[in-house]
Amino acid sequence: MGNLETLHQSNFKIGAYSFYEDLREGQPIFPMNSDGTNHSWMITKYDHVKELLKSPSFIKDQSKLFSSASKDTEKDDFNIFQNMMLDVDPPDHTRLRKLVQPYFNPKTIKQLEPRICEIADDLLNQMKQKETKVDLIDDYAFPLPIIVISEMLGVPAEDRDKFRQWSNTIVSASNEMDPDFMVDVEAFTTYLTELFEQRKAEPQDDLVSHLIQTEEDGEQLTRNELYSMIVLLIIAGHETTVNLIGNTMFALFKHPDQFEKVKDDCTLIPGAIEEGLRYYSPVDFSTARWADEDIDFHGQLIRRGDFIVASISSANRDEEKFERASQFDITRERNAHVAFGFGIHFCLGAPLARLEGKIALEKLLTTFPDIDLNLDVNPPEWRSVFLLRGLDSLPVSL
Ligand code: HEM
Repeated sequence: MGNLETLHQSNFKIGAYSFYEDLREGQPIFPMNSDGTNHSWMITKYDHVKELLKSPSFIKDQSKLFSSASKDTEKDDFNIFQNMMLDVDPPDHTRLRKLVQPYFNPKTIKQLEPRICEIADDLLNQMKQKETKVDLIDDYAFPLPIIVISEMLGVPAEDRDKFRQWSNTIVSASNEMDPDFMVDVEAFTTYLTELFEQRKAEPQDDLVSHLIQTEEDGEQLTRNELYSMIVLLIIAGHETTVNLIGNTMFALFKHPDQFEKVKDDCTLIPGAIEEGLRYYSPVDFSTARWADEDIDFHGQLIRRGDFIVASISSANRDEEKFERASQFDITRERNAHVAFGFGIHFCLGAPLARLEGKIALEKLLTTFPDIDLNLDVNPPEWRSVFLLRGLDSLPVSL
């Protein structure tokens, strides 16, 4: 049986899948914590995860639950995380999502294909020049999605190392009073304020300029929501697709039979991407939900105000849903994984991530068909970030 200690180990990611398997069998609605009144739960079964993510009884906005946390007072404090689309419920969620949805539809995203191919080619050319000491994360999986989202938004791609640091601090922070966190948030806010001033003076055909215009029009987007939207898109663009590319390549290296198949037939790449999403899900957990009422959830009483997190990684390895769930099989049929979530918060960037993943693998495998793990260095390690599954580095030989 899993226990709470496991969750706090720095190498938790290594043993996570057997821990989840134990939980699915023995304690699928797992009590993580309790302050005496409110409890925190982790749910691990595929069907439960979908049900949770779909149910309007589990909400995002905690301030609705506790009368002492008045929303109006909070709104007065400027905060770049306040009112993120990911953290609010309808009708605010519906309004915010509608503003950006057209930029992320599959048809609009498809138009980016030639530019994504160009970016991939440039990065691969730079890798050729390096020959040795190539790190697939730093040299390819990280810069590719960052350059794409930076160009969409209209933030200078040269500043990507700053964004990387800020994103990393934000997703790793366990405490908002942590001094490093506060310094980085302050720097990020100042950076965005300057960028917004520039774009206001000279609008461009980019998402930042369009959203500034929307904010100025005054009805659809507040100043705070403008900051939060850009912060969310930058973080989502930084912390996720890098893991999709890195994790899928890592799984292929570890399963040479599957790797040979995909090298022989590149029409199998989209299937490999879907299996990468399922097998090593880049986002391990959903973001927080709060119970809006007392609920009997599959025999477990969940009280109003309880905190619940859904383990996406566990759901995607649930034997009740996926045959041979612990096997990596790029030809798997009916791969209905929940790597992009489910329900109204289903990932806005899914079509973009899928296209980037497909192009990244196609270009990589045609340019370097002999690519393999570099066995002369230490084996790759998982980053110890609770919410995400991704590698720190992935040294390869070309
Ligand atoms: C939401 C995963 C890439 C933007 C989500 C959620 C998941 C997810 C699981 C739902 C979280 C929840 O319900 O708590 C992923 C994965 C990605 C990826 C696995 C890459 C492989 C991207 C990209 C973008 C993006 C490239 C955009 C640049 C968003 C946004 C939301 C979201 C804005 C919030 C949607 C809403 O609240 O309606 N993503 N994501 N994601 N994702 Fe992604």
